[in-house]
Parts: sequence; structure tokens; C-alpha cells
Amino acid sequence: GAPAEADVSKLAPGEMMTVEWRGQPVWILRRNEAMLATLEEVEPLLADPNSEKSIQPPYAKNRHRSIKPEYLVVVGICTHLGCSPTPKFAKGDASGISKDWLGGYLCPCHGSQFDLAARVFKSQPAPTNLTVPPHQYLTDTKILIG
Ligand code: FES
Repeated sequence: GAPAEADVSKLAPGEMMTVEWRGQPVWILRRNEAMLATLEEVEPLLADPNSEKSIQPPYAKNRHRSIKPEYLVVVGICTHLGCSPTPKFAKGDASGISKDWLGGYLCPCHGSQFDLAARVFKSQPAPTNLTVPPHQYLTDTKILIG
């Protein structure tokens, strides 16, 4: 399949956009400081915090699972049975998940929960973190996926 280009110049901190790549949704989440601050805090609750069992390029095998900490680029397909998880970025009860929720994604099919680096929480149906596709920066605000 052909690579996909994403222009993130209009993406505000805290916002997410979707581009299609090989018939799959690829999310680009521009994490703000508060979102980035949750990544270390949730690690004891994650099934694969260091992404050892998950799929990502070597340059995204880190806490933020990305090249630049600010931008998460990830395939928006649940590693359980392929549903598309829903963004739940609001902290606390607003998410409908738990009062301790710090933000992330919730799969509507069987309830798998993921953090703001698309890492799966413990004891969820999804076995691994969401997949980070190969990608590179063409400019500061243009990402080539694939
Ligand atoms: Fe996502 Fe089952 S497909 S939890």
C-alpha cells in the first residue's frame, strides 16, 4: 500500500486527527503537558508498559511510544478483535470508566482500556498495546506514515 501523509499544522494540543493508511485508521494525538504527565503515573497499571510484546518501530519503543513525545501516531484498531477504540481524554468520572481515569482510549466491543500512549491496562481482553506504524517527519508538521 501507498504511504499516507498527515499535515498536523492545525492540530491543537490535546486534539486528535485520523488519517487512513492501508484501509486502516491511523490516529495522530497531539498530547499536551498534562497528558504527557500521565504516562509515567499509569505504568504500574499497564500490561506491557515497556512495549516488549507490542508492535512498534524501534524508534517508538519508549514511554511515549513516538518519535516526538508530543505526537502519538498509532493504528486505531484494537489488538483484541479489531474494533476501533473510542478516545476518552477527560480525566475522572467524565469518562464513565473510573474516577481515577487519567485519559486514553476505551474499546466499545469488550471494554479494553488503553492509556494516552495506546498501552493496554492489565487484565483487559486486548493482549497488547495498539500498533505504532512506521512513520517519519518530512517537516516539523508533515508526517509520512508507511
Ligand atoms: Fe477491543 Fe475486544 S475488540 S476489546
